[in-house]
Amino acid sequence: MSVSCRLLIVLLFARVVVAAEPNEVPPPIYDEDAIPHFVLPEVLVCDDGSKVKTADDWTSKRRPELLQLFADEMFGNVPRAAQNLVVTSKVVEEGEVMAGKAVRRQVELLVSRKDGKGQLVLGLLMYIPKSDKPVPAFIGLNFKGNQTIANDAKIHLNPGWVRPSNDGTVVDNKATEASRGTASSRWPVELIVSRGYAVGTMYYGDIDPDFDDGFENGIQGLVKGDSERKLTGNEWGSIAGWAWGLSRILDYLETDEQIDAKHVGVVGHSRLGKTSLWAGASDERFAFVVSNDSGCGGAALSRRRYGESVHRINTAFPHWFCDNYVKYNSNEGAMAFDQHELIALIAPRPVYVASATDDQWADPHGEYLSCYFADPVYRLLGTNGLGGEAPILAPPGPDDPRAIGQIGYHLRTGKHDITEYDWTQYLNFADRHFAK
Ligand code: GCU
Repeated sequence: MSVSCRLLIVLLFARVVVAAEPNEVPPPIYDEDAIPHFVLPEVLVCDDGSKVKTADDWTSKRRPELLQLFADEMFGNVPRAAQNLVVTSKVVEEGEVMAGKAVRRQVELLVSRKDGKGQLVLGLLMYIPKSDKPVPAFIGLNFKGNQTIANDAKIHLNPGWVRPSNDGTVVDNKATEASRGTASSRWPVELIVSRGYAVGTMYYGDIDPDFDDGFENGIQGLVKGDSERKLTGNEWGSIAGWAWGLSRILDYLETDEQIDAKHVGVVGHSRLGKTSLWAGASDERFAFVVSNDSGCGGAALSRRRYGESVHRINTAFPHWFCDNYVKYNSNEGAMAFDQHELIALIAPRPVYVASATDDQWADPHGEYLSCYFADPVYRLLGTNGLGGEAPILAPPGPDDPRAIGQIGYHLRTGKHDITEYDWTQYLNFADRHFAK
């Protein structure tokens, strides 16, 4: 089916235009019939109107212009000054776990300014299956500190600022002992290791604490130093900072002999799923990318305005994207891009998008449609896209991971979360692509 024909079908889904006052965040749409009319930018048409006909057209022209567009208008560019940072690593703890079947390794990545005016300590925690050859790995950031991912007293308790929580796991914005293992259902470490993969994680707040502080803290503050200057409209927001941190983890893994750094996937849930997509798009060393319930600003098409909208996300989380992105508040039609093109930037590498039935805020249907509209790029690059002869417009039903080609997709029954079911699909997907 041609791209224009697919666009037409989407237009048929969309009937009513929603109007709102310019500065007022419109209420979320939860009705397919209420989605505004929209026309998606064509992924295989360049800015100058020329058509992308070959893999080379994509690689040499369309992909670079799209990548720059997402950097300038949405996530923000990493300032050149970040190249002057010096990153060193130190293994600070190591021990056998899982009855000798795996190793736990804790590494500090020390990020320093060359002028000595400040540094950040990023704590990486890894579980690595014992093997006589380097193993593939999943890496991803976590929300509340490495100590939350497993009930393992040896994991260092994160000393930094953590988002508040009233269940005793965080007091005065500091993680407590009670936080140990509280996110273990999201990190089935034993399962991952038993399947032959290493898993590495870092607290996202080590890279940039997740609050709007005018970028005084975290990586943006470190790069800016004591200059009074505000970030410009196309400089990095927090998501780009977190993605930068994921790339530094990969730099480190390239030096770790137990890791097969050519087979490292990046995984993330929710805001960290938005982050894994941007990390995978902006750093082609990531061998595969997983977006779990990433929603608005992640895998979901922005023009649908279903659930969370651009206007709402920029209002609630003004530090996540660059300032230029605010132009698109209730004005998505002015974007020269949409989120299917973020998925396409990962092509031809495997990408997996997952949604959950009760997570309407993240627009499961819109997440699937991004995969669908990225499919032509995957096929142009010689892969089977969403699988089959041609992609299917209707999303698969719950718990039916059948839309699996170089792009994978499933809709899990249940709430906004990342579960063992999700991880099992990601492991199967990685196995398939790494031909194990
Ligand atoms: C909020 C936000 C989402 C985000 C989620 C999360 O719900 O609106 O965009 O994905 O938090 O990261 O948990």
